[in-house]
Amino acid sequence: MPSVVIIGTQYGDEGKGKVVDYYAAKADLVVRFQGGSNVGHTVIVGGSTYKFRMLPSGALREKKLVIGNGVVVDPERLIAEIEELASVGKKPDLLISERAHVVLPFHKALDRLEDSIKGSLKAGTTGVGIGPAYADKAARFGIRIIDLMDDESLRERLRLLVGLKQKELRDVFGSEDEISESDLLSLCRGFREEIRRYVGDTSEYINDALDKGKRVLFEGGQGTLLDVDHGIYPFGTSSNTVSGAACTGAGVGPRRIDKVLGVCKAYTTRVGGGPFPTELQDEVGRRIQEKGQEFGTVTGRPRRCGWLDGVALRYSTQVNSLDSLIVTKLDVLGGLDRVLICTGYEHEGRVIRRFPSNPKVLAHCTPIYEAHEAWEDMERGEWTEISSRGYEALPQNAKSYLRRIEEIAQVPLCLISVGPERESTISLVDAFG
Ligand code: IMP
Repeated sequence: MPSVVIIGTQYGDEGKGKVVDYYAAKADLVVRFQGGSNVGHTVIVGGSTYKFRMLPSGALREKKLVIGNGVVVDPERLIAEIEELASVGKKPDLLISERAHVVLPFHKALDRLEDSIKGSLKAGTTGVGIGPAYADKAARFGIRIIDLMDDESLRERLRLLVGLKQKELRDVFGSEDEISESDLLSLCRGFREEIRRYVGDTSEYINDALDKGKRVLFEGGQGTLLDVDHGIYPFGTSSNTVSGAACTGAGVGPRRIDKVLGVCKAYTTRVGGGPFPTELQDEVGRRIQEKGQEFGTVTGRPRRCGWLDGVALRYSTQVNSLDSLIVTKLDVLGGLDRVLICTGYEHEGRVIRRFPSNPKVLAHCTPIYEAHEAWEDMERGEWTEISSRGYEALPQNAKSYLRRIEEIAQVPLCLISVGPERESTISLVDAFG
């Protein structure tokens, strides 16, 4: 089993950073294939916390790191992360796709301005330029990494883009921000010098690696419900976050993917705007938020918290063709009176079991819940100790809850996480096995 895709089944922040770091121990390559610095993957090792937004989460395992063509690269952030790693004595073995697009400072300014005029349709973006960069890519105005490498292409493209963006800033948004073509050119030339040694043909590299039987881990960002096609449009991100995006965003065919693993938090969280049927706006929600440390990695915004949504989970299983499921943060629900799972929605007197495409339906539906007995609250050390003994050592009620999740998702579990550290992990099946 040399290739595994890991994606989020909910609204992002499912704990994919820890999971990718865990599996990266056995991988040869870790590949990002979509998103950009809106991703915020946290990895905790030996008491130190690392937050990756541009580099794949396998960085700490010192594996080959690949940034595929589907990613929008923020060079400033990428260079900062490379320097951060260097400060702890690690040098990334990195390859960046020539075909990936570049996020420039005006993309960030436009991101915030565009979001500000959307009123009730606002997604509450992370403000790091993702939407505008993908929009330029689709409209064929974008600047790719390969263009950064060639001064003539760079100047030609910047001239066109600066004129257009200056007009947009001034005429559409009434902004007085000036974009200086010469400043932007020097900035891009600076980026070129910093990243040139990492740039290459990533599709060829990954396909060669697969031919040689190397183990490739494709690391998804955000989550299925934020996907630009399959998520709750327009309240999501601008890329495809589903498993299929690993193919288009890394340059491999679907037949090269062996396994798809979905990461699902034991409850649900969401940052930003948009419908969230199982949201808890009460003491239980606040308790989950505090205990689960549910604050955005990129923006620091508090995450909205709620019960597990089984309808959304089934939908995620389907659009991603999941083989197995990884449940994270099971420990956070310990000590509650009871734990609920949503198994359907009620809307205008009708019961809905299919995940609706209309955000208005989602916003006005009432979840149908089933209740489960909770398990005891335990210290981190106790959860780590349970992890060392394996699945059977989990509290009985926690095991029943997990079995129910498996039943709803209709896929088996392969990994359970009961704490942020690498050691608080229970593996049921080897992902590369
Ligand atoms: P954007 O991707 O910055 O354009 O943000 C669009 C929406 O996706 C906003 O609601 C963000 O809060 C959300 N979002 C983007 N990236 C992440 C992530 O990594 N985790 C959780 N939410 C995200």
